[in-house]
Order: sequence, then C-alpha cells, then structure tokens
Amino acid sequence: MLMDLCRESGFEVCAVLDNNPAKWGEQTLGVATVAPQQLLAVDPDYVLVLSRSFRAIAEQAADLGYPRERVIDYHGEPRGALRAMGGDNLVCHYDYVCDGQGMQKHIRKYRVKGKVTQDIPCPAPLEKQRRVVTEVVRAFSRARDDARRAPALYRVGENWGGLLQRTWGDFYAMVESGDLEGLTSMLANYCRNPLSHSILGGEGAFRSFAAHPVQEAWLQHNLNVWMALADGDAALEEAAMPPVGNPYGYDVEGHLINWNSFVNHWRAHRCLRLLDGVDHPLVAEIGGGFGGFAYQLLRGDRPLTYIDFDLPENLLIASYSLALAFPEKRILLYDSPHMNLDPSVLRDYDAVMLPNFLLPAMADASVDFCINTISFSEMEYPTIVEYFSQIDRICSRYFYHENLSCHPEYKGFPSSVFPRPRHFRQLFVSFSPWHGLDVYTLGHSYLERLYQRQA
Ligand SMILES: C[S@@+](CC[C@H](N)C(=O)[O-])C[C@H]1O[C@@H](n2cnc3c(N)ncnc32)[C@H](O)[C@@H]1O
Repeated sequence: MLMDLCRESGFEVCAVLDNNPAKWGEQTLGVATVAPQQLLAVDPDYVLVLSRSFRAIAEQAADLGYPRERVIDYHGEPRGALRAMGGDNLVCHYDYVCDGQGMQKHIRKYRVKGKVTQDIPCPAPLEKQRRVVTEVVRAFSRARDDARRAPALYRVGENWGGLLQRTWGDFYAMVESGDLEGLTSMLANYCRNPLSHSILGGEGAFRSFAAHPVQEAWLQHNLNVWMALADGDAALEEAAMPPVGNPYGYDVEGHLINWNSFVNHWRAHRCLRLLDGVDHPLVAEIGGGFGGFAYQLLRGDRPLTYIDFDLPENLLIASYSLALAFPEKRILLYDSPHMNLDPSVLRDYDAVMLPNFLLPAMADASVDFCINTISFSEMEYPTIVEYFSQIDRICSRYFYHENLSCHPEYKGFPSSVFPRPRHFRQLFVSFSPWHGLDVYTLGHSYLERLYQRQA
C-alpha cells in the first residue's frame, strides 16, 4: 500500500533494501530487492523505513555513508512520512475487480488537506441558536428536576455521576443564573470544552489533537474498515461531521472527518439495512451521547423516528446538535413524566429526545431496533439488568450493542456478564474493528453483539 501511495504522490520507488540475502532478487510490484550495501549505488533521495527497527537501520545507512536526515521512519510518522519527503498527504483504499480470470486493483486516494482546528462557525444565525438553546435548556431543567424523583435504577451511576459533577459545574451555574449568552456560547463550542469530556474527549482531546504533529493512525485504519463494511454503498461526504458544536478533525477532500465519523456512519448504515422494508421504523437508543448515530440515521430521507433515552445532560447535547443540524425536522423534547409515548404519536416526529427514566413508559413491542454503544458497561449493574429487561419488552426486531470485552480499572462491566435478553437470539458477536476499540486496544477493547427477536 505504501508503495502505491508513494507512486500516487509522485515518487519513484527505486529499490527494496533488505539484510536477508534470501530476499535479494525478489520483485515486489516490479521493484527488485537488493542488499543494503547497494544503497549508495541506488542513490535514492530518501530511504523510507518500514521495519520497526528504525534506529538500527538508520545507523546502518549512516555507516554506509548515506545522510542520516534523509532516512524517514514510517512508523514514527505514518502517512506524515510522505509529507516529510515533500509529497502529498493521502489516505487510500483499494477497489478490486475480477473479470473471472485475472484481477485488477484500482487505488482510490483521498487527499488529506490537513487538520481542521480553526473555529467552524455554526450555520444557524445567533438568534436561531439562542432559541434552540432556550428550548433545550428548558427541557433539560425539567428532566433534571424529575430525574431526582425517578426510581433508583434510573438514577445516574457512580461513573457518570462523578464525571458530570467534575465537568459540568460551569454549565449548571449558568442554568441557575439564566445566563443565555453564556449557555449559547458554551454549547456552540461543546466539542472543544468540558461538556463533551466523556463523549468526545472535551478540551483535552481537542488540545492533544491540535498539538499532535503528524497524522494519527486512526484515519487510514478507520477508512479501511469503513470502506470494507459499507462495501461500495457509501460516499466519503456522507460520513462528515455536521458543523455544530465547533467540531474538529481532518479535512479529507473538503469533508470534516473525526474519529467518530466512520463509526457512527456505519452504525446507522447497518441499522437501516437491517430495517429494509420496514415501514416507518422506530429506532430507540439508550445513551446517545452527542447524537452522532442519530445524526447519521436522520441524514437521509427515509421516514423513521429516532428516540433517545439518556441522562439529562447528554440528552441536551444531542437535542441541541440535532435541532441545529436539521432545522426542518420535527423534534420532540421532554415535557413531563406523563408524555404520551404511543407509537402513533411518536411517528409524528423525526426525533424524540427523552430522559432515561421514561423508558418504562414505552409500549410493549413498540420499537423496531434498540441500540446502545460504549455505554451499558459504564452503568451500575442493576441498571444494565433493568435496561435489558425493558429492551426485551419493547423491542420487536433487532437489538444491537457495543460494550467492553474486558474489565478496565474503572468500574466497567464486560458484556459477557450482561444478562441474555430472553426473547432474542444472538446473531453475532465480534470484536469492534475500529481503531481504539479493537482487539489490539489492550485492556479497553469492545465487542459488538447483534440480537434478533424470536417469534
Ligand atoms: C461514552 S458515552 C457513549 C455515547 C454514544 N453512544 C457513543 O457511542 O458515542 C456513554 C453514554 O451513556 C449515557 N449514560 C450513562 N449512564 C446512563 C444511564 N444510567 N442511562 C442512560 N444513559 C446513560 C451517557 O450520558 C452517554 O450518553
């Protein structure tokens, strides 16, 4: 792949150098492998080191009389390596075509124009932002008050209770004092401030992204995964982040891609595929975070209703994001614990944003698809058990979740200890393929599980 990328970036690959004499004379994509002692005779502008033994190789090159500064460590700077040699920054994907006999390979490349760390203005005028903030904060205040009277199983657990206390103090104070300007400004920047601390990494993640000098490995990794899963059925621009909350990430061919982009696009894409042929499905998510899955689900024109059940704080973030990303959509916000949640009422809306304690108010078998990602594991065990029994009751077709495969240091439950939903059959379990969640993410990897309701 790197050889192709070099060629696409306008470099000629002169030779492959290897210390192993058994490899000398081998051809790779038309390039011969030769002894390192040939280095000065080959006379390349750069030596790109693919081996993990960079230091030893750079020393060997220097001993042979080759300038040390022209030996580039691929693993030290994946992708940035090409830029270090003066080339373009690319990510790429292979499309394969077989005519029944031979095989052809086409490289699809995407130009990474750089990191987007400058402010991304919200497309909605300030007056509209203020109106949205007023509405979502009103719903938040009601939900927060009513949450205090919710059954213990629906109260915030140890992990999230502590996090919110530590990171949302300024926000609570602004709500208390009715500071609309402060709230509008804070929400307009939530991707980069403490409001997104545990859903996008908050200020710390933004700062470390901005400070990191080279392209992170997740971009090529997640592109590869996404291309394979979407199987030619999706275009890059579909995965882009909406310009809400001052997001950041990479500019790939003019589209803003961050770590969540491909992940949420694929979750929504798979959900919609599973619900093919279902007339106006109801999709319920428990713990929707900033609304990344919801955004992808609602982006198309398929008639459906998305219902989020979350803690009041993140419910507010998702409600704000969806209201500004989709000003034309009908979004129902929380009003009272007595809201009518009959499916015929819910179907009048594109999105219904509810505090978690309203889950028991849903009718039996009223929802076609239930989803939970990176979330059950962080709750109290009795709450997980309660949610499983509710899903067993309200979900008529599919239940999908992604949760821990292991037990990290904090109070996190591996999904192997979750209850089995009684009326469902597990269709598959698999390690998450995404960078930072996959099987190589030792001590913090995730499993994906899909269940189907049994007749
Ligand atoms: C790490 S975030 C994951 C967000 C999103 N699902 C994702 O994959 O990006 C965990 C989510 O679980 C929610 N959550 C935590 N405790 C909850 C509870 N007891 N009931 C419902 N949601 C809860 C949080 O508010 C947050 O939205």
